[in-house]
Amino acid sequence: MAKLKVAVIFGGKSSEHDVSLVSAAHVIESIPKDKYEVICIGITKKGHWLKYIGPAELIKNKEWEKHPDNVPCIMSPDTLHKGFIVLGADGTFDNIKVDCIFPVLHGKNGEDGTIQGLFQLSGVPFVGCDMISSANCMDKEMTHLILEANGIKMARFISMRYSEMDKIDDKIAEAEAKLKYPMFVKPCCAGSSVGVSRVENAEEMKNGIKLAFLSDSKLLIEEGVTGIECECAVMGNDEPFASTVGEIKSANEGFYDFESKYEDDNSETIIPARMSEQAIENIRALAVKAYKAIGCAGLSRCDFFLCPDGTALLNEINTLPGHTPISMYPKLMEHAGMTPARQEDKLIELALERN
Ligand SMILES: Nc1ncnc2c1ncn2[C@@H]1O[C@H](COP(=O)(O)OP(=O)(O)O)[C@@H](O)[C@H]1O
Ligand SMILES: [Mg+2]
Repeated sequence: MAKLKVAVIFGGKSSEHDVSLVSAAHVIESIPKDKYEVICIGITKKGHWLKYIGPAELIKNKEWEKHPDNVPCIMSPDTLHKGFIVLGADGTFDNIKVDCIFPVLHGKNGEDGTIQGLFQLSGVPFVGCDMISSANCMDKEMTHLILEANGIKMARFISMRYSEMDKIDDKIAEAEAKLKYPMFVKPCCAGSSVGVSRVENAEEMKNGIKLAFLSDSKLLIEEGVTGIECECAVMGNDEPFASTVGEIKSANEGFYDFESKYEDDNSETIIPARMSEQAIENIRALAVKAYKAIGCAGLSRCDFFLCPDGTALLNEINTLPGHTPISMYPKLMEHAGMTPARQEDKLIELALERN
């Protein structure tokens, strides 16, 4: 049987470019080569698209961009092309048709629906959520509105737009009237905890608001939740499967900030989470309910807080979760008995099935 051609797209203009490179190397190494031929497409931090034909190792260590065989290569929205156009230096172009696209991109322009819209125009099947569900999971206010309307509990919040900066003191007063300190100020569309602050008073909130607006023109002020921070990996289309729950033990207790996520070896993930069987089953059921309510497909990681009184509050849904060898998503799926090879294979099968 002829091998199916899968295009893995990595990098991108987001602040999570480097994480994407490590995730992509893991995905490329794991995809079973007896079944699939992998084509690598890298997007630079500036947003240039290149077809790359070197080893995965050079993607991981950020050297891929300098490879002499890289050629400019763009995705075509034309359904006739079914994939990519390689642009020759002499003005010629070549069409590379693919059977499936596997985006391994995190954050802005990768996980927010923009590139998913292009995939949908192209008519090529792709791994993961579609344009609308990606966008609604990226925008934390939309996630709140959709999931709360579907009976999923989340932290109490207010939102603020950059155009309201002239009324910043009124906004702070509104937050103080509705919510209790500590609060979290976060950009609506960002990731990796970039631009997120834990604030204890009006002065800190003001600084948090200014910081969050560096990442997005809309932000949320949420009431701080005390509880166990935990994550559930979900895979599937109409009848998704939820893994067990993994616990985050952040080096910076009570705030899994950028340093704790990527730089501090004292942060740990504990699988399964240290909580009752009943709490785990409840979170798994909520993860599936949220996944279906917001229209996810393929995969997503649903993040929660388990409060001391037993209530689980959803924090956010990540539609293209970290996929490095030490990331929670692949580890939770391995705990469920899926090898990395089977995980990538299944994700591609789900993309083809949905199409
Ligand atoms: N309402 C909240 N209560 C307690 N901790 C929070 C709250 N919101 C965010 N955090 C902390 O901040 C981190 C980053 O916030 P999150 O909403 O997950 O944004 P990101 O998309 O950047 O991951 C979380 O992992 C958690 O540790
Ligand atoms: Mg998060």
